[in-house]
Amino acid sequence: MNLVELIYASRMTAPMSMSEIVDLLDNARTHNTREGLTGMLTFGSERFLQAIEGPADAVNRLYGRILQDTRHEGVMLLGYRPVPRRRFSAWSMGFFAYGADGSLARSGLPDDKFEPASMSLDQALALLADMATQMEFATT
Ligand SMILES: Cc1cc2nc3c(=O)[nH]c(=O)nc-3n(C[C@H](O)[C@H](O)[C@H](O)COP(=O)(O)O)c2cc1C
Repeated sequence: MNLVELIYASRMTAPMSMSEIVDLLDNARTHNTREGLTGMLTFGSERFLQAIEGPADAVNRLYGRILQDTRHEGVMLLGYRPVPRRRFSAWSMGFFAYGADGSLARSGLPDDKFEPASMSLDQALALLADMATQMEFATT
């Protein structure tokens, strides 16, 4: 399988309620399961950071739709590359609110504002992978 990972940052066009985000996630997980996609999504300070991984065709199609989604803007691609295996294989789309559960302290980033568009690819992946580890602990 031609596996790739894609990481981007964006800003909400307008503030979203938690129930709107949960709706988004429900749909995303249904679609991603069907398409063989996995990943991790976080938000804070009205910013999103998302990693999507799976077959290149499916990742590309989803990113095309995400670019056109009017719920966010300023989509900034932080990374896109082939990978030998998935990082987030357990999650059709894992989710956490940035700042919850001590994520600020662990990320080593300033806690006044979450600005994923100015993170390096390595920082972004480290944050998402760290969250995935915490989620694993939380569910076992
Ligand atoms: C921050 C953000 C993350 C999203 N993540 C996903 C996702 O992982 N999977 C998915 O199917 N849709 C995701 N969406 C929704 C898509 O942009 C799009 O609305 C959805 O795929 C339906 O597309 P359609 O209306 O063209 O059918 C996301 C949207 C936003 C704003």
